[in-house]
Amino acid sequence: MRVRKAVFPVGGLGTRFLPATKALPKEMLPIVDKPLIQYAVEEAHAAGIEEFIFVTGRGKTAIEDHFDHSYELEDLLSSRNKLQALEALRAAVPGAGQIAYTRQQVPLGLGHAVWCARKLVGDEPFAVLLADDLILSEEPCLKQMVAAAHETKGNIVAVMDVPREQTSRYGILDVGSDDGRLAEVRGLVEKPEPAAAPSTLSVIGRYILMPEVFDHLSRKEPGAGGEIQLTDAMARMLGGKPFHGLRFDGTRFDCGDKLGFLQATIAFGLARDDLRQGLGDYLSMIAKDL
Ligand code: UTP
Repeated sequence: MRVRKAVFPVGGLGTRFLPATKALPKEMLPIVDKPLIQYAVEEAHAAGIEEFIFVTGRGKTAIEDHFDHSYELEDLLSSRNKLQALEALRAAVPGAGQIAYTRQQVPLGLGHAVWCARKLVGDEPFAVLLADDLILSEEPCLKQMVAAAHETKGNIVAVMDVPREQTSRYGILDVGSDDGRLAEVRGLVEKPEPAAAPSTLSVIGRYILMPEVFDHLSRKEPGAGGEIQLTDAMARMLGGKPFHGLRFDGTRFDCGDKLGFLQATIAFGLARDDLRQGLGDYLSMIAKDL
């Protein structure tokens, strides 16, 4: 089973980051010196993805510009011999024809955004990456998932345990057999109240899905919060092809949330050779006053 295509839903409004996201797409917010969406594209590339499909919305043109050449800027950097910066710019641009855009005219929910990509994906397994879920890991999370999909020959979602009081923020698994790494999905519930949650194993923004999911999404039934939920369509797929949650190796940051965004900035800063010492010294200094 080859996973060649990845869908990046970037049609959300990013209301939790207003006013920063009034004119700037949430996915363009930088962690250290790279926008969130570039981390996601690089992760997909490292997992063997060859086609990058963006589901955009109004006010998201900065994303298209980011993944295109900027001839003026490249010329200027070249003439000033700023070769490192030039290389960083060029490396971010996927090859010609590898990137496609479609538009979610109305942000009706994540499930609807994924459904908007159905023609571009066609009849093959595909990945979905939510750029605001940023993962710090040795082996890219999606690469771990592709390996798991080869093993199970079915759908894979990335999962992690969350404190029970947070289940109402996530899609939660009802778990069947479980070997500690791969958990068979018996049921899926979107944003259950803690008392009603079947477990604390929650789905984060990485999926490998079989194309049958589009049939279920085309019912366009609103779910939790009145939005068309991807979780509901995935729940309807259960009983068909195998469906597992993968406890991936790595740390996930919810960069759609202010605290998660700040934590990611610190963690990714500390992971960088050029910043570790300076940032570490600063954190130790201010920690004394906390
Ligand atoms: P969020 O739940 O984080 O929503 O979406 P949001 O609109 O981006 O942000 P807030 O909550 O208002 O601050 C999760 C992911 O689903 C995408 C978002 O772009 C994000 O990657 N999404 C959500 C869509 O593409 N379309 C939608 O209609 C909803």
